[in-house]
Amino acid sequence: MDLSAGVAPDDVRVDCDLDVADLHPAVGDPALNSMNFLNEVAQRYPDAVSLAAGRPYEEFFDVADLHRHLEAFRAHLADDLGYGPAQVHRALFQYGRTKGIIHDLVARNLAVDEEITVDPESIVVTVGCQEAMLLVLRALRAGPADVLLAVAPTYVGLTGAARLVDLPVRPVAGGPAGVDLADLREQVRRARAEGLRPRACYVMPDFANPSGASIDLADRRRLLDLAAAEDLLLIEDNPYGLFHADGAGRVPTLKALDTGRRVVYLGSFAKTVLPGARVGYVVADQRVRDADGTVGPLADQLAKIKSMVTVNTSAIAQAVVGGALLAHGCSLVAANTRERAAYARNLRHLVNGLARRFPDPSPVRWNVPAGGFFAVVSVPFPVDDALLRRSAEDYGVLWTPMAHFYDDTAPVAALRLSISAVTPGQIDAGLDRLAALIADELTRSPVPAARR
Ligand SMILES: Cc1ncc(COP(=O)(O)O)c(C=O)c1O
Repeated sequence: MDLSAGVAPDDVRVDCDLDVADLHPAVGDPALNSMNFLNEVAQRYPDAVSLAAGRPYEEFFDVADLHRHLEAFRAHLADDLGYGPAQVHRALFQYGRTKGIIHDLVARNLAVDEEITVDPESIVVTVGCQEAMLLVLRALRAGPADVLLAVAPTYVGLTGAARLVDLPVRPVAGGPAGVDLADLREQVRRARAEGLRPRACYVMPDFANPSGASIDLADRRRLLDLAAAEDLLLIEDNPYGLFHADGAGRVPTLKALDTGRRVVYLGSFAKTVLPGARVGYVVADQRVRDADGTVGPLADQLAKIKSMVTVNTSAIAQAVVGGALLAHGCSLVAANTRERAAYARNLRHLVNGLARRFPDPSPVRWNVPAGGFFAVVSVPFPVDDALLRRSAEDYGVLWTPMAHFYDDTAPVAALRLSISAVTPGQIDAGLDRLAALIADELTRSPVPAARR
């Protein structure tokens, strides 16, 4: 066929157009569009007060810290580990170890801050916690009968990652206690009765995103007992654990309480160091017997997957995070005293501000989290993306519809507020605008059937 004349015959398609239906089903899934949609609304209304963004507070970021941290890590390689100049260069400039180069420092951090003792070989340093999630779910999804349980509402990044690896997510009731253990047992048994294999249950025991709920110590122990009794893995995701509000002491992580290698622990440095580095990690100390009979940590299997996804996490980014750890004796608790105080102050300000604007008796309710970035406001009308757009356009305030955190299409009468990237003044302005929107909505017909 000669197209050299520049005129295509009618039956020849010149452009290569594809239909989304011919791509992996995940790309058409609402879970994968959620972050894009929320970013798009935020970009379209830059002057709106954002009580939506879960980003860390920016005032404490300093470019000079990046240089300092990099130099501290270089000095660590040379002075503590005895690397010669060529080895230092290779470590910082070259492709690197798949499981990462700051695994020892991460292990020290876990010992110092969390009383978690792990072999550094059980750690894979990842491109954000998000990659860690993807690696774990990819590894666990062995066949079509496999399913994941997740406390609902859940982090949309988890749902999206599960979609990408064709792993169905089944909700477990959360509630104010953070997890409904009776429902978890029921969901495990129901799935098995259907011939399915629940591979793990995903939980955020500390100041969950989006609910703000935490699991108390007694329930953490019960959860571990239940996981052992049902032979279930737990995936513990803990990006917010350091940020307990005033008066609320820290509760040991599930991993710290885990004596049976039941818990795969996901960590993120996005909130405790900086999100721009995109560094997270997974602790996977479960023993896996390989085809040749050798036994090694699950981390080694995850590393095989990682080698085909991101090859290795950026050495420069790891060096910055490693240097930040070294600057504070590997304690992120110590490194985040200002940040913790700011988040605790903001959370208090938010909760007090809600109480002032919606005094009893009010159809508007909210929870009072013991820390973290998020609180949930319940209202007597459905909260959807259209309402968010109206809120941005007419009232100049952004928040996140809670519907984004449920894996179904039932209407949800609640929204998530975030306190992490704003000042108390912005919280006041945002709440005034939200109160005006809610007052307006309350004059319209309420729909009590929606989930609150
Ligand atoms: C619960 C939860 N897990 C994981 C992440 C992602 O962390 P990272 O930025 O390290 O990928 C977030 C980010 O907001 C989160 O809220």
